Amino acid sequence: MKQAKEISDEKLEVVWEPQPGPQTALLTCPVFETLFGGARGGGKSDGVLGEWASHADICGKDAIGLCVRRERIQLTELIERSKVLYGQLGARFQEIDKMWRFPNGARLRFAYLENDSDALAYQGHSYSRVYVEEMGTFPNFDPIKKLMATLRTGNPEKVTPRFIATANPGGPGHLWIKQRYIDPAPSGYKILPTEYKNPFTGEIIWKERVFIPSRVTDNKYTNTSEYIGNLYMAGNDELVRAWLLGDWNVTLGAYFSEWDTTKHVIKTFKIPNHWIRFMSMDWGSAKPFSVGWWAVVPDETDTFLDIPSYDLSNKRIFLPKGAIIRYREWYGTRATTTTENRNVGLKLTAKEVAAGIRERERNEPRNEYGRSRIAYRVADPSMFRNDGGPSHAEEMGKFPNYISLRRADNTHISKRGAMGGLDQVRARLKGDEDSRPMIYFMDNCIDAIRTLPALQHDENHIEDIDENCEDHAPDEIRYACMSRPYFRSQGDDIVRRLLKSSDNSLVLHDDLMEIKSENKFNQLRIN
Ligand SMILES: Nc1ncnc2c1ncn2[C@@H]1O[C@H](COP(=O)(O)OP(=O)(O)O)[C@@H](O)[C@H]1O
Ligand SMILES: [Mg+2]
Repeated sequence: MKQAKEISDEKLEVVWEPQPGPQTALLTCPVFETLFGGARGGGKSDGVLGEWASHADICGKDAIGLCVRRERIQLTELIERSKVLYGQLGARFQEIDKMWRFPNGARLRFAYLENDSDALAYQGHSYSRVYVEEMGTFPNFDPIKKLMATLRTGNPEKVTPRFIATANPGGPGHLWIKQRYIDPAPSGYKILPTEYKNPFTGEIIWKERVFIPSRVTDNKYTNTSEYIGNLYMAGNDELVRAWLLGDWNVTLGAYFSEWDTTKHVIKTFKIPNHWIRFMSMDWGSAKPFSVGWWAVVPDETDTFLDIPSYDLSNKRIFLPKGAIIRYREWYGTRATTTTENRNVGLKLTAKEVAAGIRERERNEPRNEYGRSRIAYRVADPSMFRNDGGPSHAEEMGKFPNYISLRRADNTHISKRGAMGGLDQVRARLKGDEDSRPMIYFMDNCIDAIRTLPALQHDENHIEDIDENCEDHAPDEIRYACMSRPYFRSQGDDIVRRLLKSSDNSLVLHDDLMEIKSENKFNQLRIN
């Protein structure tokens, strides 16, 4: 802020000055799209407000800004801070339209975008700056893309429009933000050429994007033992680590905090022919469908002696009896690489999906009718709905594919002593008395491994999953776990015996539900 400095030299007060490091980089950055931050207390919000003050100063009436957050209530703090800064610059704030007007004609509006479709309201607007604060609260890129499309100026000689977003790890947007900004260059400062397609006009242009990391240690106002001490009080170790280091690899606020890649992911190996296999599926068309194939570990000696099962560091591991292993998956995504958005569906018909499943089962052991020996298949209950025509489940069961499905138990949450699907997944991730997991993922199952640990808590219903997460594989994993309930319990003897025998014979969830309805599960304590 050169001007501000000059004024200060004339004995006027400096209202705001970027700190050396990331804030200065933000203000001088020539790049179109910037993600600023990645950790808490790094001076992100102040950086954004300061960047605007600088831009307003330089561009005057050509500076037209929009600063958005997800929720109205979240704007308050930012507006309060802006009052401290901009008030001193002689700008006036109109509460009604949340608009700052600067003496030189620059205007900055604050707004919130509660629903993705709210972004449509900005079609046709022109801004020289768009700021998105705490972008991790946006579950997907779509509304952001629409906002970017409003960046243009009537005075290109003088004004270079910029998009600047801030984010911490975590939140429903964690995954797409990590993929877009962090993964390509985790330590930042690398300028990446990016293709932009205007969502309104279809026009394609090339611009640049960059990630500028900022941490609490870059901010002298927060780099204090008091501030850091307070952060420690506010979160668990993982959370604090992510906040302090801006570590996007920790699955912050993860629903399944028990997930541990080194424990749950194993090298792909061939499942012995005699192991029981089953399949689980979640339907999707515009969004991906997800199909998982599972095998049940029959016997400990068996696994130890005959099965070359290894963890990711090539250590031979021991798979406990009754554990389920996801040995194959089919994720119905249009993406062909892992860097594209994978949350876009293939739009196949039920019949095509059934044929695809058959195709993927061509090497499965056969039963006496010559069909693949999959003991049962559980599927999304919505697949059994018939709105006029035959249901998806019915279509899949027909000639020539004969994929016959069973309605999965879709209970999310445990109620009145019965364990819901989410707790079933958690119980298996936690594992047995010796903390050996009761669920494993072969390393070919990339979309389950990517999306299960990324699930976030729903902020309003902490025991449930944020429904904006990419949850197709997790849904189907939940169905799989519900079809073979696992209890590490000192509970009811009858139930325990019955479940034990379920590893060899096939005790189905429906059978167990009968026992449950006789109230035998009521005394069961999980863990
Ligand atoms: N350049 C600056 N000048 C004065 N105070 C600053 C500056 N940068 C950050 N701060 C102060 O540091 C604290 C944390 O910064 P903030 O921008 O809120 O961090 P973040 O948004 O990354 O969590 C705030 O009190 C903020 O006012
Ligand atoms: Mg902030």
